[in-house]
Amino acid sequence: MSQQVQGVIAPGKNEPVRIETIVIPDPGPGEAVVKIQACGVCHTDLHYKQGGINDEFPFLLGHEASGVVESVGEGVTDVAPGDFVILNWRAVCGQCRACLRGRPWYCFDTHNAKQKMTLLDGTELSPALGIGAFAEKTLVAAGQCTKVDPEVSPAVAGLLGCGVMAGIGAAINTGQVGRGDSVAVIGCGGVGDAAIAGARLAGAAKIIAVDIDDRKLETAKTMGATHTVNSRSTDPVEAIRSLTDGNGADVVIDAVGRPETYQQAFYARDLAGTVVLVGVPTPEMRLELPLIDVFGRGGSLKSSWYGDCLPSRDFPMLIDLHQQGRIDLAAFVTETIGLGDVEQAFARMHDGDVLRSVVVL
Ligand SMILES: NC(=O)c1ccc[n+]([C@@H]2O[C@H](COP(=O)([O-])OP(=O)(O)OC[C@H]3O[C@@H](n4cnc5c(N)ncnc54)[C@H](O)[C@@H]3O)[C@@H](O)[C@H]2O)c1
Ligand SMILES: [Zn+2]
Ligand SMILES: [Zn+2]
Repeated sequence: MSQQVQGVIAPGKNEPVRIETIVIPDPGPGEAVVKIQACGVCHTDLHYKQGGINDEFPFLLGHEASGVVESVGEGVTDVAPGDFVILNWRAVCGQCRACLRGRPWYCFDTHNAKQKMTLLDGTELSPALGIGAFAEKTLVAAGQCTKVDPEVSPAVAGLLGCGVMAGIGAAINTGQVGRGDSVAVIGCGGVGDAAIAGARLAGAAKIIAVDIDDRKLETAKTMGATHTVNSRSTDPVEAIRSLTDGNGADVVIDAVGRPETYQQAFYARDLAGTVVLVGVPTPEMRLELPLIDVFGRGGSLKSSWYGDCLPSRDFPMLIDLHQQGRIDLAAFVTETIGLGDVEQAFARMHDGDVLRSVVVL
């Protein structure tokens, strides 16, 4: 028997989001229905609403979530009803060429639920990142559910489902930040601040936060930034170089994802340093760089999908570190809101008023 719940949809490009009744089928083979407890508002949800990801409207938004498994379909053995889980948007397949080469975090064939959730009139919904968790319940592939300690607050746990994991992973997995490194992070929203916290956790000696908003720079300091640069008034490349003996940082993380911030990251790193792109550009963006500089500056230019995380390895580990007080994930929750407040939360995110608004159900 399918069931009906309330969920937040983006009906069309740049149209305001609204609450609708969503029809959720019973879980089929390999699927699970999860009762959502918390779901953070990520910039990627706003990208969806603005048509920046694709035009498969209507979207069922929300993808940074935790909840309790309600029911599972045939053949599901890893999770069971009653388990407290964080939802992930890269359920690895175990069989593609990346998985077979022992690099499952690159999995080229991640999967979602096969059945569709719909509106009451049968219109199929596109769940954001295959999740759709601004809803009382959602249908996912069972592999998208990662069990963690139920003692942790759902609002905190959910953040690991996207932005905070992407940021921490951009630093520790993709950037391979190590003890004593200098790191610069451009864009200090939820993702950038998580990269700062991740760099601190990894033992970086110098962490330079760059943003165009002084309020964001103040918060970045509490996350571990040792220096801050407002790139509206100061050239960030010059500033990062002068803070690193004229050399540039070992690792520069672009957590905005625009051609100009990528270019800043490219030139603000030391020779043979690493650039990590974790911010998501839109399809029309173009980058122009002298090829001789790409060659001459050496090092590596990397993209970070979901912080190159392995949910089964990284979610429980980060929850443990949080509970031991070694990384403060609760600091990312600026406010908790209801399902009806998502549009307003987008405005607050756009205005830079919040790190994370988290819908709590
Ligand atoms: N790679 C991934 O797996 C992944 C996962 C989640 C989010 N993201 C992406 O990461 C990016 C950041 O997400 P978020 O949730 O932290 O967003 P956010 O809106 O909370 O933060 C963005 C920050 O960037 C700052 N900023 C904007 N333009 C800037 C500029 N030109 N120079 C310096 N700072 C600037 C803003 O002031 C803000 O503090 C988005 O593009 C999002 O889609 C990527
Ligand atoms: Zn795979
Ligand atoms: Zn996200």
